[in-house]
Amino acid sequence: MNIVILAAGMGKRMHSALPKVLHPLAGKPLLSHVIDTARTLSPRRLVVVVGHGGEAVREAVGAPDVQFALQAQQLGTGHALAQALPLLDANVPTLVLYGDVPLTRASTLRRLVDTAGQNGYGILTVTLDDPTGYGRIVRGAAGQVERIVEQKDANDAERKIAEINTGIVVTPTAPLAGWLAALRNDNAQGEYYLTDVVQAAIAAGHPAVTAQPDAAWETLGVNSKQQLAELERVHQHNVAGALLVAGVTLADPARIDVRGSLTCGRDVFIDVNCVFEGEVTLADNVSVGPNCVIRSASIGAGTRVDAYTHIENAAVGANAVLGPYARLRPGAKLADDVHVGNFVEVKNANIGVGSKANHLSYVGDADVGAGVNIGAGTITCNYDGANKHRTIIEDNVFVGSDTQLVAPVRVGRGVTIAAGTTVWKDVPQATLVLNEKTQIVKTGYVRPVKKKN
Ligand code: UD1
Ligand code: CA
Repeated sequence: MNIVILAAGMGKRMHSALPKVLHPLAGKPLLSHVIDTARTLSPRRLVVVVGHGGEAVREAVGAPDVQFALQAQQLGTGHALAQALPLLDANVPTLVLYGDVPLTRASTLRRLVDTAGQNGYGILTVTLDDPTGYGRIVRGAAGQVERIVEQKDANDAERKIAEINTGIVVTPTAPLAGWLAALRNDNAQGEYYLTDVVQAAIAAGHPAVTAQPDAAWETLGVNSKQQLAELERVHQHNVAGALLVAGVTLADPARIDVRGSLTCGRDVFIDVNCVFEGEVTLADNVSVGPNCVIRSASIGAGTRVDAYTHIENAAVGANAVLGPYARLRPGAKLADDVHVGNFVEVKNANIGVGSKANHLSYVGDADVGAGVNIGAGTITCNYDGANKHRTIIEDNVFVGSDTQLVAPVRVGRGVTIAAGTTVWKDVPQATLVLNEKTQIVKTGYVRPVKKKN
């Protein structure tokens, strides 16, 4: 089949400089949700009709399998589809989707396409308690679809019809050019309505058939920030439901946000208010404390991520302990049994098996071996004002508290660094390194007493 996604509308009610279809839902543009669903149907042609903010839309969703058609002026849904015609394969049906309807399931679209077959005109419809605003499906005495009437063109009886046009249709392609060319805009909105094509199709002997989605939210569109927020919640509810079905324990399924894909092993626990972005993998028995943000990361089996930990583009081994308040920045690679504690920042650094940095440290551009203990307040001085340099700390080094390691520098295996040392030259293995300092004690000292103004 061909798939055409209509995305030329302005989205005035979003009150935003960003084109409506680029507003993110679960961290991804609305239109990208539609394109990704379309791809699962393996269309022969995939065309997006752009108009308002067309350049930004092309840039955001451009891909080798996506073609764009420009609708310079928004003269209606029928006119929009006509712009895509030259890019379509006339031998297969065309499925029409909306760029601002992000959550339609592929199975629903498949059902519509199958119902219509090669020759039918298929309309995805739903029956709503309040159909106000939508086009209504007008059926004849035998129940057959006769036409679609827009809210603004409908009479009182037609407005009582609860079955509405979702806008998603599938149509034979070869006769479409003729049908679209014959559309007139003598209606309440002065637009070329795609909905009027159904009559031409019926007249030409193509049966009009309907299919329904499993859930009404699949056909909801976004016209305002309020609707965007509602659909975000629908989506997050669905994601949380799928995690529960897969056996993940969620402290509260209403308080997790997944903006990307979250893959979990067995017996994973996730506490409240965690945000997962990009591709995140949590292996068996991982537990994530409250208020963590984890982006593009893999966390090994049995690792505990305590509250308020922030992880981005990092890989963590098994049985590690992170946080509370730990920060792993891009390029952090932690082996098994590593501990990274409160207010410790790790960036572009490897930390070997069993090493610990439990308090208040910065480990950046570093290779830390196994069994290393990094005392509180340790800083890798990786930046000389112009360039970044690496710090190498070999296995079983003991780094005393408040140590500065001025990179580039290498600390050999088994070294002990005394507290408060500035290490600016390489240290040979199995030695003690310290800076000479004197502790002076003055007796009889009286602290001056000052008066408050
Ligand atoms: C349309 C349908 C209505 C249906 C409703 C479902 C028509 C005439 N009416 O109405 O029966 O119940 O959707 O939401 O089709 N678009 C363009 N170019 C245009 C006009 C629209 O690309 O010139 C795109 C919009 O960006 C949007 C989609 O088409 O993604 C629907 O447009 P919209 O104006 O929201 O249609 P409705 O008037 O709501
Ligand atoms: Ca609409």
